[in-house]
Amino acid sequence: MTSEIRVMTPGDIPAGMRLKEIAGWNQTVGDWRRFLRASPAGCFVAEWGGQIAGTVTTIIYQDRFAWIGMVLVDPEFRGRGIGTALLVKAIDYLDNRAIPCLKLDATPQGRRIYERLGFRSEYGIERQSLKRDIFADIRGCREEKNLEFHSVLDMDREVFGADRSLLLKSLANGCPELVVTAHSGASLGGYALGRKGSQADHLGPWVASDAEAARETLENFLRRSQRETVFVDVPKGSRWASALLAGKGFQFSRTLTRMYRGENSHPGRLDRLCAILGPEFG
Ligand SMILES: CC(C)(COP(=O)(O)OP(=O)(O)OC[C@H]1O[C@@H](n2cnc3c(N)ncnc32)[C@H](O)[C@@H]1OP(=O)(O)O)[C@@H](O)C(=O)NCCC(=O)NCCS
Repeated sequence: MTSEIRVMTPGDIPAGMRLKEIAGWNQTVGDWRRFLRASPAGCFVAEWGGQIAGTVTTIIYQDRFAWIGMVLVDPEFRGRGIGTALLVKAIDYLDNRAIPCLKLDATPQGRRIYERLGFRSEYGIERQSLKRDIFADIRGCREEKNLEFHSVLDMDREVFGADRSLLLKSLANGCPELVVTAHSGASLGGYALGRKGSQADHLGPWVASDAEAARETLENFLRRSQRETVFVDVPKGSRWASALLAGKGFQFSRTLTRMYRGENSHPGRLDRLCAILGPEFG
């Protein structure tokens, strides 16, 4: 028997949720909806004997590069080539659209599959997590103005390497209280957004042009978040994030590897990046 791969639909979201629960991941139904809205023809499921055995998602960012995420296979069906077949399907889909660069953040489990399919390492990423007593004191936090969000989108375009305004607007609408900004003189010095995941609040993207903006955005975010657990994914070359997070009690949780296939012509600005949005989005 072999797996059959078809386009994912909203009706497959419960099956996707089941697979991500088994993997212990933090995504919600809202995240799956984001993938399907961003890429209705570019997310796939693998069926084995009529049962959904695996998933993969793709998002194309401005025809510059695409992100592959949610590569998940039911543990009962692993080691039969389903993960590889899903990846090959995603690559074909994106190659047919002439996307010059494919990117993803690999777990150690997925990395060998990606290397065999021509992905190369760009840099390491560390998942850090905070466990704390709940406190919800948002006094002293400014409400973010719409005007400022345009500056966030501008800065994000430069730091991420492509426009992802629709995605960031969807995050901000989903969790307006987790949008924080810092000023550097008259201009925007940094920003952070977040998502309420199934296990934890997820901080990211988190971007700053100087150390003070990095500190201010982190502190405001942690004040706004009302969860006992907070996750964040930090590039190893990040200038300020690790020391600031250690100071707040974050601890190392696991490693990921950012990988690319093709010409990585829009790598963004690692010098300003404190945390990625998440491995499934970039
Ligand atoms: C990573 C993951 C998606 C792989 O799925 P999978 O269906 O087992 O992947 P494949 O079967 O294609 O490949 C797995 C291994 O089986 C081998 N394999 C593939 N087809 C095979 C077959 N017919 N017979 C025997 N072995 C086979 C592959 O060579 C591969 O070997 P490796 O361990 O040396 O890399 C799965 O382990 C998973 O869901 N992990 C948890 C979530 C995760 O980490 N996802 C990756 C996110 S980046």
